[in-house]
Amino acid sequence: MQYQNDVQPITDRHLRGRLRAVGILLGLMAALVVLSGCGNLRDQPKLAKPFDASPTFGRAARNILPEAVAVNSQRGDEHLYYGTVNGDYATTYPFPVTLEVLQRGKTQYEVFCTPCHGYSGYGDGIVSLEGFPRPASFHTDDLRTAPPGRIIQAMVVGKNAMYSYATRVQPEDRWAIAAYIQALQFSQYAEVDALPVALQEQLAALAAEAKEASRDNVSQ
Ligand code: HEC
Repeated sequence: MQYQNDVQPITDRHLRGRLRAVGILLGLMAALVVLSGCGNLRDQPKLAKPFDASPTFGRAARNILPEAVAVNSQRGDEHLYYGTVNGDYATTYPFPVTLEVLQRGKTQYEVFCTPCHGYSGYGDGIVSLEGFPRPASFHTDDLRTAPPGRIIQAMVVGKNAMYSYATRVQPEDRWAIAAYIQALQFSQYAEVDALPVALQEQLAALAAEAKEASRDNVSQ
């Protein structure tokens, strides 16, 4: 087929030429933006080295505050911070566990731990259900009989796929969470006799009701 002289077909060569022109233009615009910043920064007053004298603060680097604690530095109270006593899992709490502590533990557990461990601690959190390595349930014999220090250590150093929570969960909160997990463990394995009498009576009433309902169903 013949093309007329004034109607040129658009070939790959033309397209490449256009693209190159656009590329060069964009490059120039980017260079303009970058270069315009340079002059400004170059003219700003600045201190080149950390220990240069500074008119405002004495020297360029600020002094470290006296209460600053380096990450991972030994903090003295092994029981509170690491959940261990002479290197073994602590079996006791470093402060009394009150209702308030448990309530704090509940909110913190729900913030930090439920995504993987689930609200009741069966390891069925949403992240686990979506394919993250599923943690063991807290209601296995192994973990139900574990001392609270083992829960604290899991938070402080992490375990396999579970990363450390040491920088996110403060020491007191770690113990509050451990107390709440132990309460969860108790809740899933409590003997009826361990319940307050009022609850035992409610349970008995519920059981009687259920029995009545099933008899009605059978007789119908
Ligand atoms: C990103 C998911 C994830 C989150 C969030 C998470 N864990 Fe875990 N956790 C795991 C996994 C996975 C394991 C199992 C590790 C293994 O044994 O391989 C585990 C194991 C544990 C264990 C058992 C440790 C042992 O000694 O067997 C405890 C206790 C625990 N987690 C507590 C917590 C607490 C408390 C929180 C919240 C502060 C938390 N986890 C948050 C994933 C998570």
